[in-house]
Amino acid sequence: MTGTGRTTITGLRGAFLSEGFFILGTVPLETITSVAEMKRWAKLHSAAGKSIGLVPTMGYLHEGHVSLMRRGRRENDLLAASIFVNPTQFGPSEDLSTYPRDLEADSLKCASVGVDALFMPEPGDVYGPGFQTYVDVLEVSEPLCGASRPGHFRGVATVVLKLINTVAPTNIYFGMKDFQQLQVINTMVRDLDVDVNVVPCPTVREADGLAMSSRNSYLSPDERRQAVCLHHALHEAKKLFDAGERSPERYLRVMADRITREPAAQPDYVSLVHPETLRSLEEVDDSALAALAVRVGRTRLIDNMVFHRNNPANKPV
Ligand code: PAJ
Repeated sequence: MTGTGRTTITGLRGAFLSEGFFILGTVPLETITSVAEMKRWAKLHSAAGKSIGLVPTMGYLHEGHVSLMRRGRRENDLLAASIFVNPTQFGPSEDLSTYPRDLEADSLKCASVGVDALFMPEPGDVYGPGFQTYVDVLEVSEPLCGASRPGHFRGVATVVLKLINTVAPTNIYFGMKDFQQLQVINTMVRDLDVDVNVVPCPTVREADGLAMSSRNSYLSPDERRQAVCLHHALHEAKKLFDAGERSPERYLRVMADRITREPAAQPDYVSLVHPETLRSLEEVDDSALAALAVRVGRTRLIDNMVFHRNNPANKPV
């Protein structure tokens, strides 16, 4: 599956889906490894009037990614997914070289969900010689993960705009687990008049509440057990919100206390911000985003929960 062209693999559509259904039959999945080839595929289908959904990922796919793909499958004539461990969004001391990869398992998952085209470009094709153009979304990139990972959202916005320019999707799918990333992309799309519909998708969790993440595979069994403290801390915050608490300090203290009860857990940030601007709240009113980044052992995990006062559902995401 390497090279610059395309390969077709065949997957059993619907096999092993968690809903327990099984559709007998095979569907072809085209794997495309060159930007030029991906553009040709997209142009061909757009010209035929087909809507295209795109799910950008860095691979090592789990149910969170798959939930985005299922939604994209339902809402578009054709579905493309990308797997690209994007070097520009990793800092010099981060895990670019060790980021988990399993292209074989990923391809099978994509085929099972009914992805039509799996785009897996080479870094040298995405960032060619002389590359020097980046997208900087300013204010919304600054706090939270932007403060602890300088340059991260610049890399994310740049690669996502490049993927949009390559695939020209009608709809593009992002998980709310990476809430700040979603707001960075929303802001970029609005400010640069990008012609795509951004679809936010709810966070998929393990049975104990830990948000699914490719990086969970780094956790030892003991760290994995402690990692659920992020979810518990967010639930403590939700209880305060439901009880009408207005002081942000109280939320921050309660969440930090819950996290630091676990010996392997070290908060990177514990924040309560406005869900759109991501600015810190002076007082909690109608809505708030509780956002956490926590190192569990050497693994940095993030999670968040949005609260809305006048929304009867007020469901955690
Ligand atoms: P990655 O971490 O692989 O995530 C790909 C997409 O899956 C993102 O939109 C992310 O928010 C979503 N996702 C991850 N875990 C999820 C979960 N538990 N529930 C729901 N959705 C989940 O995010 C990236 O890659 C990259 O930054 C990328 C956008 C591909 C740009 O390089």
